Amino acid sequence: MSSVALILAAGEGTRMKSDKPKVAHEVLGKPMVNWVVTAARDAGCERVIAVTGHHAEVVEGHLPEGVESVRQESQLGTGHAVMTAREALRGFSGSLVVLSGDTPLLSAETVSGLIAMRESTGSALTLLTTNLPDPTGYGRIMRSAHDGSVASIVEEKDCTPHERAINEVNTGSYCFDAEVLFAHLDRLTTQNAQGEYYLTDMVAVFNAEGLMVSASSTDDPLETIGVNTRVQLAEANKVMQRRINRALMLAGVTMIDPELVWVGPDAKVGRDVELLPMTFLFGKTTVGDHAIVGPNSRLIDAVIAQNAVVDASIVISAQVGPGARVGPVSYVRPGTVLEADSKVGACVEIKKSTVGEGSKVPHLSYIGDTTIGKDVNVGAGSITCNYDGEKKHATRIGDGAFIGSDTMLVAPVTVGEGAVTAAGSTIARDVPPGALAVERSEQVVIDGWAQRRRAKHDE
Ligand code: UD1
Ligand code: CA
Repeated sequence: MSSVALILAAGEGTRMKSDKPKVAHEVLGKPMVNWVVTAARDAGCERVIAVTGHHAEVVEGHLPEGVESVRQESQLGTGHAVMTAREALRGFSGSLVVLSGDTPLLSAETVSGLIAMRESTGSALTLLTTNLPDPTGYGRIMRSAHDGSVASIVEEKDCTPHERAINEVNTGSYCFDAEVLFAHLDRLTTQNAQGEYYLTDMVAVFNAEGLMVSASSTDDPLETIGVNTRVQLAEANKVMQRRINRALMLAGVTMIDPELVWVGPDAKVGRDVELLPMTFLFGKTTVGDHAIVGPNSRLIDAVIAQNAVVDASIVISAQVGPGARVGPVSYVRPGTVLEADSKVGACVEIKKSTVGEGSKVPHLSYIGDTTIGKDVNVGAGSITCNYDGEKKHATRIGDGAFIGSDTMLVAPVTVGEGAVTAAGSTIARDVPPGALAVERSEQVVIDGWAQRRRAKHDE
């Protein structure tokens, strides 16, 4: 049987108190709704359709390739959100998985378990429940007194005090028989405390029609956290951080304090890598075997090769070659390639540049739009003046060149192979291979001057 997932993501998320739609808030650098998309896809859903509404363009802009979307112009409730997908699902028969965009911890196994249970029992609906010590905010599960089956779901705002004391809650994840659902969806009304069409009322509708409703209960309530507030967002981040770090440590990654390391879902970390405290690996970052990252480092879409070291630095959309070293306290910006055994040392900013094998930019430099050959030394405080106020220009430094400390390289400019620039020079013209370029005024020495001044003061 085929399955399609519908992810409800049109709500405003008022309780987030945010200008940004709730489902776009991130868990480990990935928007919440995209976590749900991944779970649905990994569970085998052939199509994934998101229902968007509040800030629809923003949410749609975050959705992964291939996810369809339908717009719910006004948010009249979860039942209404499903109604808006009727056209998109016309002609579909099979399992319709309905998920909330605000349950980022839901696993693919749980989703495929719901599908399997509905299909094997022939239920009109299989829903996922869990028991929470504090069920505040969730819909409560009413069980039939005589056979224990799910009779209805009552939203917290509609609960009697007695009902509110029930700990079994609706997690907001469902698998419906699509045809049966759409045949009965119009039976929903807005006669409830919030004046909304509640999808949860389908339970009572099906029961009244004698259609089967089954429930699967998860004993891992963490998986089903519905993020409504920033407190819950922090909880979801913590749970996901622990899940990912545990898997990494079991795969051979050292973390002396895993509570202080944040690795996103799309990052890959090799064997015997050390991730030191306050390290963030986000986007499609990869870290090769035996590399050391941190403390205090942030890597986004970075490719760190084996045996490299990134110490207290930021690397964004750049490559750090085998055995290369970055930091402490450097900023490696997009388009940079540090080749094998090269070094970008302390307090260096480098953008869209290549540092050749074995070359060093050890201290306090800005290098932009530059190609540095092999075995080059760039002295402390040297800067490429790559921007003339209108355009960016390139700098080339040949193999084996030596850039004296505090050299200003005014681009476009080329320093030839093996050439030397004298410390403190402003180099605005090309330097031929093997040459020395000096640009500074003659030093003046006045013998005895300091001594005479001191003597004068002492008079
Ligand atoms: C919902 C359930 C509740 C369950 C809880 C689990 C209903 C009526 N209640 O409550 O039983 O315990 O989830 O987390 O379904 N949305 C839309 N369009 C709308 C309204 C909501 O797309 O018109 C989306 C929201 O963006 C959100 C999801 O549906 O992603 C759930 O809505 P939310 O308002 O968070 O429902 P809860 O009050 O949490
Ligand atoms: Ca919710």
